Amino acid sequence: MMTGTRAISRFISNQTWNFTPISVSRVGSHSLNQLRMSSSATAAVSEAETAAAQKSYQIIQDCGNFDETQARRPDFDHSKPIEVTKSPNPNWEYGQGVPNNRANLAGKHHEIDPYASDRPMINNYRLLVSGIAPRPVGFLSTMNSKGEKNLSPFSYFQVIDHDPPMFIVGFSSRPSRVKDTYRNLRETGECVINTVSENMIEAVNATSIDAPYGVSEWDVSGLHEAPSTTVKPSRVAESVFNIEGKVIDIKEFTDHQQPGMSLAATVLIKATRFWVKEGTANEDYSHIDLEKLRPVGQLGGISYGRIGSTFEQPRKRWSEEIEIDKLDKIVELTIPEVLILVFRKII
Ligand SMILES: Cc1cc2nc3c(=O)[nH]c(=O)nc-3n(C[C@H](O)[C@H](O)[C@H](O)COP(=O)(O)O)c2cc1C
Repeated sequence: MMTGTRAISRFISNQTWNFTPISVSRVGSHSLNQLRMSSSATAAVSEAETAAAQKSYQIIQDCGNFDETQARRPDFDHSKPIEVTKSPNPNWEYGQGVPNNRANLAGKHHEIDPYASDRPMINNYRLLVSGIAPRPVGFLSTMNSKGEKNLSPFSYFQVIDHDPPMFIVGFSSRPSRVKDTYRNLRETGECVINTVSENMIEAVNATSIDAPYGVSEWDVSGLHEAPSTTVKPSRVAESVFNIEGKVIDIKEFTDHQQPGMSLAATVLIKATRFWVKEGTANEDYSHIDLEKLRPVGQLGGISYGRIGSTFEQPRKRWSEEIEIDKLDKIVELTIPEVLILVFRKII
């Protein structure tokens, strides 16, 4: 079996690449003139500092011979249906907390200062991505002002409102330049957010490669472009759901920038157009079928999760619950208790 490294070398040697490599130190002065939004994001970082930062940067995990590990595992069952089960504790009652949880509750928590001088950044990274999971993967298509395309996945990503439809993406710092997607968002303010289904994951994961600025990960992935209406970057044709969007705010964490590392930033994106693959939603396009979406969640380390089973939990209204509670409990109340409730306008 061909390893990832050999595969990309062979792939690259078969391609005609059209990009201008930019050295770390050039990024700063070069980009500040180019950028639409004023920022210190691409301010020059010294190459010596970057080299030092690179040594302790372990976000990309060394997985040994992953091909061998993978070969020992069962095949992915593409036809596995998503089962719907009862909820974990269907007889749960108000105030009950977590049933049968006494032993777990006795467990102590270990306090951590994420900024402690002896706590490596990588420990916070591993803790957060393993502890805040699963995370949806926002697959962002962007373009720079020269029209060069970019496609990359981000799981510091979430829809944060529907009215207006708003999304958030977090860009981590790394030794060298800011993420190309972030640079493009600042430069042009436009993107398409594409959903990631199980059958796309290898192609999506491949686009996370740290390709030089200006190299299109569309080519690396083999995914297909579909035209957008309100923004220049293309949509991913394979995705069930595409969201065209425009940047409405950016927060750069200048106060936290470390020597040799690029700036970390968070971007707020407002949707300008939705596209839903026909046959994957109901008639009025208000609900996407989970069986068709088959979303993938990013977990800790290099793990992804799929949805194998779901359960439902209706949300309750206070007013209706009080009514039901009243009927249940009223027979047990004494007359003075009923009078108190009436007085407090509870019944
Ligand atoms: C599933 C997945 C999720 C990722 N999530 C993030 C993220 O939320 N923030 C981030 O900065 N990098 C994230 N990365 C890493 C970027 O995709 C990677 O740095 C990529 O090279 C950035 O591409 P760009 O420089 O072309 O924008 C993720 C990678 C994968 C595979």
